[in-house]
Amino acid sequence: MDVQELAIEDIVFGEEFCQWQELDDDLIEENHFKQSTNDEKKTFAIEMCDKISNDEIAGILAVPVRTVRDWTWSKRKELEKNRNDQILAEYLRAWNNHQTIGKKFGMSPNSVSNIIENFRNNGTLAEITKQFSPYLYSIWSLHKGDKKTYFGAFPREYMENILYYHTEPLEIVYDPFAGSGTTVDVCKAWHRRYYCSDRIVMNGREEDIRQWEIANGLPEDLELPDLVFLDPPYWKQAENKYSKDNECLGNMNLDDFYSTFETFLKDLILRKVNRIVVVIQPTQYKNGLVYEDHIFHFAKVLDGKYTIEMRRILPYSTQQYNAQMVIKAKERKVDLGLHRDLVVWRRV
Ligand SMILES: C[S@@+](CC[C@H](N)C(=O)[O-])C[C@H]1O[C@@H](n2cnc3c(N)ncnc32)[C@H](O)[C@@H]1O
Repeated sequence: MDVQELAIEDIVFGEEFCQWQELDDDLIEENHFKQSTNDEKKTFAIEMCDKISNDEIAGILAVPVRTVRDWTWSKRKELEKNRNDQILAEYLRAWNNHQTIGKKFGMSPNSVSNIIENFRNNGTLAEITKQFSPYLYSIWSLHKGDKKTYFGAFPREYMENILYYHTEPLEIVYDPFAGSGTTVDVCKAWHRRYYCSDRIVMNGREEDIRQWEIANGLPEDLELPDLVFLDPPYWKQAENKYSKDNECLGNMNLDDFYSTFETFLKDLILRKVNRIVVVIQPTQYKNGLVYEDHIFHFAKVLDGKYTIEMRRILPYSTQQYNAQMVIKAKERKVDLGLHRDLVVWRRV
């Protein structure tokens, strides 16, 4: 029996999928199908093929098993495809593994692994890369404008480019500041496994984003990630935007922000994650007179253990600033910050 056949059988006999329905007594009463046309028998076979075996259908209809097999072949293929897509979707949630998924679908970890490998070998996982046009230069200007529905949402286009340049299909991306779930959405489309969490999980995102506070270190069931994406609140720039809690990085004073974030970076260093990506905007405060360039601060923490693989500039639109702010900046002889830094570090 080859893998495909095994998988089709699993659809019938897998614990989750096998929802044996009580067949209507009238329906299986002897001779019930005696007067039925072949089309009617075929319709019955197709309807029942995810509930009982071909042999049983053949018995009820009094037709050869081979006929039932022909009638139900494309339906079974469709069911198999749907089930395999669901298995892949579960596997992309990086807290699942072959074992837990096998349990859920009533099959062995090996069968799960074969199904995932089939996806890899048939090219499905890398399809999106073929039609993708990445940024060719290190200043990443958005094509569609930086429209947001969630405060601080990271544009999808940027995430696609990060995955394009720095990850491969089925690698694990860990995002502990998942917010609205940009990383989840892009990882799904790009077939990267994702472990996304946030201290406050957005409504409707519970299946894909876990509740986790970074002050507690790394989650226990996190497998070694290939890439960690860090899009924290920008300290005072995000005050009270996500919550009023002191634990939110957006509500901390600068010292606490640095020490909480650095402790977390050190956990990632200890864990030996391969790539760490940080996106952050310098803070300009006290009417633009004080300039705090956070990315250089983080560079010091990673120095010696990680090397910069690439640095990009993510410009904002000038509309960030209103006329009054511009006038004030001119009076004080300061220019206004208009970009985020996106730095990718690789473990040395
Ligand atoms: C800039 S937003 C992330 C936006 C996200 N990348 C997106 O595309 O929607 C920062 C997130 O960090 C979360 N956060 C703040 N402090 C945290 C902490 N101590 N532990 C975990 N998450 C935290 C906030 O709740 C917020 O959702």
